[in-house]
Amino acid sequence: MIRIRKGEVKDFEKLSWGWKNSKKILEKYIEAIKKRKQEFFVVEDKNNLIGEIHIFWKDKDKQKANGKNRAYLSTFRIHEDFQGKGIGTKLIEHALNYIKKKGYTQVTIGSYKDENKTQRYYNKLYFKRKIKTDTDKSIKPQRDFILFLREL
Ligand SMILES: CC(C)(COP(=O)(O)OP(=O)(O)OC[C@H]1O[C@@H](n2cnc3c(N)ncnc32)[C@H](O)[C@@H]1OP(=O)(O)O)[C@@H](O)C(=O)NCCC(=O)NCCS
Repeated sequence: MIRIRKGEVKDFEKLSWGWKNSKKILEKYIEAIKKRKQEFFVVEDKNNLIGEIHIFWKDKDKQKANGKNRAYLSTFRIHEDFQGKGIGTKLIEHALNYIKKKGYTQVTIGSYKDENKTQRYYNKLYFKRKIKTDTDKSIKPQRDFILFLREL
């Protein structure tokens, strides 16, 4: 039986399987979580953590999240041994309900332009409106990143 619950900073130890190459980003996340700009949910299976999703309430990029009515979902992942069993969908729906309860009416999520499978999945989850495409220059080779929006 899996359980979805709020994440805490100490949970990142058990989520290290997803953070191996992203130490800098993790530091930023922890800082934002401490400042309450960001929250996250985890999926627990027995004593392991097998998934996570992060909610940004506020971001420098107001098109992503503005601290008023629009939140941004990021780092949505399920451990590869558990993918394709409906767990990710339960997790994102849990996060969407939580965001709605907080009074927010819009949610954004991003995908790289070449990730067709991810885009089809987001579309199925009603992230249908393309707000913009940015070029992610933080990675090499650079990749285009599409931001999608869903109303709640
Ligand atoms: C995308 C992801 C979070 C979905 O979680 P999940 O538990 O596997 O998904 P579910 O079983 O609830 O739903 C399956 C849907 O996810 C999609 N999916 C499954 N495995 C996937 C994978 N490795 N990569 C991308 N999408 C995947 C499928 O298209 C499927 O859609 P369908 O129902 O139309 O067939 C998970 O597969 C994952 O972590 N993938 C790798 C990382 C990633 O691409 N994250 C998203 C960008 S941050």
